[in-house]
Amino acid sequence: MNYPEYRPRRMRRTEGLRRMIRETRLSVDDFVYPLFVVPGSGIEKPISSLPGQFNLSVDKAVDMAGRAVDLGIPSVILFGIPEHKDAVGSEAWKDQGVIQKATRAIKKAHPSLVVQVDACFCEYTDHGHCGVLVDGELDNDATLENLARAVTSYAKAGADVVAPSGMLDGFVGACRDALDQDGFDQVAIMAYSAKYASAYYGPFREAVDSAPSSGDRKGHQMDPANVAEAVRETAMDVAEGADIVMVKPALAYLDVIRAVSDEINMPVAAYNVSGEYAMIEAAAERGWIDRDRIVIETLTGIRRAGADIIITYHALHAAKLLAKR
Ligand code: PBG
Ligand code: ZN
Repeated sequence: MNYPEYRPRRMRRTEGLRRMIRETRLSVDDFVYPLFVVPGSGIEKPISSLPGQFNLSVDKAVDMAGRAVDLGIPSVILFGIPEHKDAVGSEAWKDQGVIQKATRAIKKAHPSLVVQVDACFCEYTDHGHCGVLVDGELDNDATLENLARAVTSYAKAGADVVAPSGMLDGFVGACRDALDQDGFDQVAIMAYSAKYASAYYGPFREAVDSAPSSGDRKGHQMDPANVAEAVRETAMDVAEGADIVMVKPALAYLDVIRAVSDEINMPVAAYNVSGEYAMIEAAAERGWIDRDRIVIETLTGIRRAGADIIITYHALHAAKLLAKR
């Protein structure tokens, strides 16, 4: 087909025509909204590095989850900031921990909402590393034991999905075994399968005070230069029992999302991370970009790359924009 017989502009002429041939559909069904839960009550403290996002006490997290439900968002993912941090992050698996309380309260108030719980220790350890340190290094297998404790306690609290995010070897299998042993064979696992050692997590680490006090996470998170390794990591997680696999961050890794969604026959999530959100908000605040258009364009791009699910701080805003269209 060639010009002048084929004129591509014919089908771009009106919004009706464009809608008919649109290849990628962005829907509120795609979104997962992250919530940051803190101890206490009546707390709705703005996170300075994530304008429009808050540290929420359990009661306020229930309200915010309700706003997500009202907008038709199917799922939230919970991050916890504990009362006390210690060397191993033991508050992560306390039945009276802030995340366990939040999970129970949100499921009670909004039974249809899919509640996912992020499972890692960097928010819970006093040194900010993702688990047990032995001679200054993250000990894989000792951390797996604690991870098993954490995910079963989230399941007991009513989580629908647990989301191990530490990029430890064998972490999905350890979660699946522990859940099944305790009778939680119906609790799903969303694996942070291809999580890169990225500078885009900066604002998140400020929100949950989880920056490592020394060193970095390059010994367990992936090298940003690799894509074949992402497919390998993801395939391992599927073999270990992952129900959803994830690529994170999203925007500098759209090719990774594409490769994983082409190679792996499982639902693929992409995490549109804190730094990606913060860049849009900062530029929009200065009037340099059109926030509404950029938000829809960005999320559509992530879907076009092959993501089935998008975890995004823009979920509420985007849901409102989609409802208006
Ligand atoms: C680890 C975790 C991180 C994020 C989600 N889970 C941070 C990290 O690995 O340092 C980042 C999310 C974001 O930047 O939005 N618990
Ligand atoms: Zn971590």
